[in-house]
Amino acid sequence: MSLVAGVDSSTQSCKIVVCDAATGQIVRESRAAHPDGTSVDPERWWEALVTATSDGLLEDVEAIAIGGQQHGMVALDEHDEVVCDALLWNDTRSADAAGDLVRELGGAQTWAEQVGSVPVAAFTVSKVRWLAEHEPESAERTQTVVLPHDWITGRLLRERGGFDGWSTDRGDASGTGYWSAREGRYRDDLMELALGRVFEVPRVLEPAETAGTVANGMIVAAGTGDNMGAGLGLGLQPGDVVVSLGTSGTVFTVSQTCPTDPTGAVAGFADATGQFLPLMCTLNAARVLTAAVSMLGVDLSELDRLALAAEPGAGGLSLLPYLDGERTPDLPHATGTLSGLTRSNATPENIARAAVEGMLLNLRDGVEALRGQGAEVDRVLLIGGASASTAVQQVAGSLFGVPVSVPAPAEYVGIGAARQAAWALSGEPEPPEWSPALTAQTGADGIPDPSGPQNEEMVQRYAELRQTVHRTG
Ligand code: XUL
Repeated sequence: MSLVAGVDSSTQSCKIVVCDAATGQIVRESRAAHPDGTSVDPERWWEALVTATSDGLLEDVEAIAIGGQQHGMVALDEHDEVVCDALLWNDTRSADAAGDLVRELGGAQTWAEQVGSVPVAAFTVSKVRWLAEHEPESAERTQTVVLPHDWITGRLLRERGGFDGWSTDRGDASGTGYWSAREGRYRDDLMELALGRVFEVPRVLEPAETAGTVANGMIVAAGTGDNMGAGLGLGLQPGDVVVSLGTSGTVFTVSQTCPTDPTGAVAGFADATGQFLPLMCTLNAARVLTAAVSMLGVDLSELDRLALAAEPGAGGLSLLPYLDGERTPDLPHATGTLSGLTRSNATPENIARAAVEGMLLNLRDGVEALRGQGAEVDRVLLIGGASASTAVQQVAGSLFGVPVSVPAPAEYVGIGAARQAAWALSGEPEPPEWSPALTAQTGADGIPDPSGPQNEEMVQRYAELRQTVHRTG
């Protein structure tokens, strides 16, 4: 049996799956934690990878690929050493820089048309501008900018032999803001706009190209961004829309064309197969539920029970879940709002329900935004930590207006990276056929059929509240 490994170097941890290259069957897994925070020394990601592989996890592995959190800025000096802590996708200090960049190129429509995405604080280009404005010494020393997955790929090759310069893939490159997914090339003018000069960037590999080979012969594939990895791990088909409920909330689909959304809600990312990955991202997802858990002094399973015991609509309570500020809608400095409280509806059940509904209503806007961009939406695939909750599955089943499927809980980013590694190893024109198991579907396990009149009222109430509090439609 040929073995391949896929890494998901995510915001909170490093997760690794080792799979049979032919079938995708998982043979073994491992993980190690990352430190908390929205900026981090990249060396901590390497240490987590070393810890997770210390018991010989990679011994007989023939190919590996790194999937990683998108957008993070890893600034390197002339000796390829890290200049400062990496600013992560969820660090909002670059919000003003993003606004300035949008204006300076001629507005959101221009960015959408030329790049495929309108930058917000999350994008690398905004972080580079922030560095130039706030840490001029670090900016001065910066020669190259790479992303988390690029840096770990390069670190692996430098450590074990086979480093031949920094590399990335189309998927992750498209989250920088200075690689245009529409044109399939770096835009020197946008790098210059951000840093005041052009800097070095990793070469962009084809989906099945290799970044290098380490001394023991293990191939290191191109790697990709985590959402692109999940798309590959799930084997997305047109009409499939993923709603991923992790540290970030993401809603994405696969498409042959790059979207042009001047509202900035839908980013025109590239995927890991040579197509596109229109995507909407929120800063608030699974952690809305953990916040509700601490607010109510219960655990996650009790939160689930409480939410299921309440009526749909949470007795009139609405939650705008912008607990960490928000990216979509673009409200980086917002806080959460719980509205509609009365003496009779102020129960733990309704609060739990409002948390689940608020989190999903925020993502429902992403599904609508994809529709607005002409995406086919035939079914929703619910993944990520919070998708294990029965209350989440049930509310999702009644909110998205299409059947909802819940794939078997698994590390889909890691599986996608492993599939990419198997693809690079095979030398075939297409990735190997690996199919994820779907455990629950609409009508099964209590997931209701789509849409009901009470949801229209709930959706309306949520939209009105957002308009009242944040003046944004
Ligand atoms: C997507 C995004 C997040 C990160 C975190 O654009 O910023 O989903 O990739 O994992």
